[in-house]
Amino acid sequence: EVPALKTHFAGKFRIGMAADPSGYQDPIAQPLILKHANSITAENAFKPASLATAPGVYNWATADALVAFATANNLVVRGHTLVWHQQTPDWFFNGTAADIRARLEAYITDVVTHFKGKLTCWDVVNECTSDDGSAVYRNSRWYQTLGPQYIEIALRAARAADPNVKLFINDYSTEDPAKFARLMTLVSELQARGVPLDGIGHQLHVSTGTPTPANVDNALRGVAAKGLINHVTELDVSLYDDPGSCFASKAGCLADLTGDPVALAAALKKQALQYRALFNVFLQHPSLQSVTTWGIADNHTWLTGFPINRGNRPLLFDAAGAAKPAARAITDDAYVP
Ligand code: G3I
Repeated sequence: EVPALKTHFAGKFRIGMAADPSGYQDPIAQPLILKHANSITAENAFKPASLATAPGVYNWATADALVAFATANNLVVRGHTLVWHQQTPDWFFNGTAADIRARLEAYITDVVTHFKGKLTCWDVVNECTSDDGSAVYRNSRWYQTLGPQYIEIALRAARAADPNVKLFINDYSTEDPAKFARLMTLVSELQARGVPLDGIGHQLHVSTGTPTPANVDNALRGVAAKGLINHVTELDVSLYDDPGSCFASKAGCLADLTGDPVALAAALKKQALQYRALFNVFLQHPSLQSVTTWGIADNHTWLTGFPINRGNRPLLFDAAGAAKPAARAITDDAYVP
């Protein structure tokens, strides 16, 4: 047993968890989100592929059900996500640049208006920074059709539809100093143009061996220096310290270790120390207002299928719902994993 995380970290940051209906309705996971979290993110239900069945035609049911669950249980909702290069129907990109822009603006207006007053924030644009040093902006379909202005278009449309909801850019690998510098260049360009932006979401899909606390500290400090709010939006700590080649081509991905009790115990210990190191950095940043794990318990995690199919246990609670060494490590300084 560990104390309720939302109580333990009260006054510092909110504790969130991401879930699909199969997650927040799961008999193992639901008691955990109710005990520990005061924020929830839909793992998929707020994405364009889930909401927009055709231009101007919406299916709100799954997303509205999540909002109802949150409201009934005193959870705030992070909206995730309006503009992404994945989980977005192909019809968005039909026609001329003017058609695409109009469709993007209409989509954002409709969706932000539908949820007006019900969400604390939106990840307006997701994963827009280039992964390599040859460019600042990701060469996504949005970038290819509308140029870098698609980000400004999206942020302005969101602000116009709901002046109170906080607007975020959300990205992964902000803990990589080079990628983070590109994201900050992008943010500076937006700020110079007076584009509305309230915060940066750091996904923090990390592993037991990387990043260092200093890398995370660097990212949180850089965002605060721009006058923006920090959120940690998708935290999980993979058991595998895969080489870069694994992500590029699945070559060299580490083999499943979950059948080896000795190796697994060692990895869970390393994971606990990594979670503790990360939370110790989080606690030093008043600009950090929310920390969300990408899932509730190890019985459901996207990392089971990424980058390869194998067992992974990246969250704070195990598949049976019990607190893992990681959960103890972040709530009890004296605990030795
Ligand atoms: O809904 C369909 C279902 O009808 C179908 O039978 C089934 C068969 O594959 O697929 C279902 O859709 C899946 C969807 O999750 C809902 O379960 C998609 O195939 C699958 O690709 C999708 O994966 C999601 C992924 O984003 C998409 O890229 C993961 O659940 C979700 O955890 C993941 O989340 C992302 C964040 O949004 C952004 N940051 C990275 C993070 C991890 O990839």
